[in-house]
Amino acid sequence: MRCTTYIQFGKLYGVSPQSKIERVKSSQNFYAHINIRQNLKNFQKDGGCCCTFGDKRTFLDFAIDSFSEKDLAATDIVLMRAYNTQHSFTRQLRRYLEVQPDGCFVGRDVNGKAVGFGASVDFGNLSYIGLMGTDPNFQGLGLGHLMMARMLDFLDGRRCPTIFLDARPAAASLYEQCGFVDEDVTTVFKKQSSPIANTKQNDCSKDIDFLIKEERITPELDSFDSAIFGAQRKSLLRSFWNDNPARFLMSRDSLSGQIDGYLVAQQNVIGPWIANDYSVARRLLSRSLEFPFEEEPFVYTSEANMQATKLLNEFGFTPQRSLRHMRRGSKIHRERMTKIYGQASLGLG
Ligand SMILES: CC(C)(COP(=O)(O)OP(=O)(O)OC[C@H]1O[C@@H](n2cnc3c(N)ncnc32)[C@H](O)[C@@H]1OP(=O)(O)O)[C@@H](O)C(=O)NCCC(=O)NCCS
Repeated sequence: MRCTTYIQFGKLYGVSPQSKIERVKSSQNFYAHINIRQNLKNFQKDGGCCCTFGDKRTFLDFAIDSFSEKDLAATDIVLMRAYNTQHSFTRQLRRYLEVQPDGCFVGRDVNGKAVGFGASVDFGNLSYIGLMGTDPNFQGLGLGHLMMARMLDFLDGRRCPTIFLDARPAAASLYEQCGFVDEDVTTVFKKQSSPIANTKQNDCSKDIDFLIKEERITPELDSFDSAIFGAQRKSLLRSFWNDNPARFLMSRDSLSGQIDGYLVAQQNVIGPWIANDYSVARRLLSRSLEFPFEEEPFVYTSEANMQATKLLNEFGFTPQRSLRHMRRGSKIHRERMTKIYGQASLGLG
């Protein structure tokens, strides 16, 4: 998708008449904010984002491309700049390449340099959008809207009935404009290394008999997960399994022998973490905390899951921030607020 449009002396050329300048910010790098909500389709067809004020004319020409391995390093830098962090996103980007490479998109500037990224994953009944980021030098110029439009086209083309995402408060208006509504709140918890919490976790870590060793991810686990998550996500579960099967904990009910919970201890996130009840969830968490982590782990959980909150408090996790869990499309039944104790990530649900 190639986009070229420009504004001269406050007039907008190359887009439909309905589009208009919504806001102009002046700074060293002046820019116009173009309201592309009203006619995004025409905007995409006709051209993109480029502006001129006074006697100057600046082209801001974005292209949205499929993401591939060769974009990995440059995109990682864009995301680190967008999220203002020193932490690399390589692992997440590789996960997307493994699970849904055709759902990931990179935004490029006029020179073809990566300046933005967004990822979507289609799980069938539901899909997720995540890891949206624009290089700070290019923010507010419409690239976020273009990337969202591209991902929504991709998901709509696959007839995805429901799309979820976890929105930072500052970015939520972008998603509202794309038809997303609030469904829940996702809380980000982080483990604090306190002596009290460590004592508690040691207390119950002796009870590890419930753990089962499997040779592979079985159809039984897929069905257990999909009944609670709301969709099949075999490729994602296999991806975690391939990382390190030893960090994939599964539990079976001692009477029925059925799977009643599982947990993936990623390098710095605990999740997916799913359990039929509090005691199973507790034992899984307790056992997982015996693994070494790159840093104190995060857990992403529904604010409405009171059991998860209680458990996380008990084990020394504290809430860091909240995100708006937003939905576009039909409501679907899932056990997010009762049996999903930890999401796989913010972008994958
Ligand atoms: C959120 C983000 C991806 C939007 O990308 P973008 O290219 O700036 O998007 P657009 O230019 O199309 O603008 C989209 C909206 O984001 C707002 N926005 C622009 N710059 C922003 C910034 N630095 N922080 C937050 N929001 C911003 C715009 O005001 C616009 O809202 P509006 O349409 O109501 O005016 C981008 O600002 C970003 O990377 N932010 C930091 C990382 C982040 O928060 N990612 C999203 C996690 S949910």
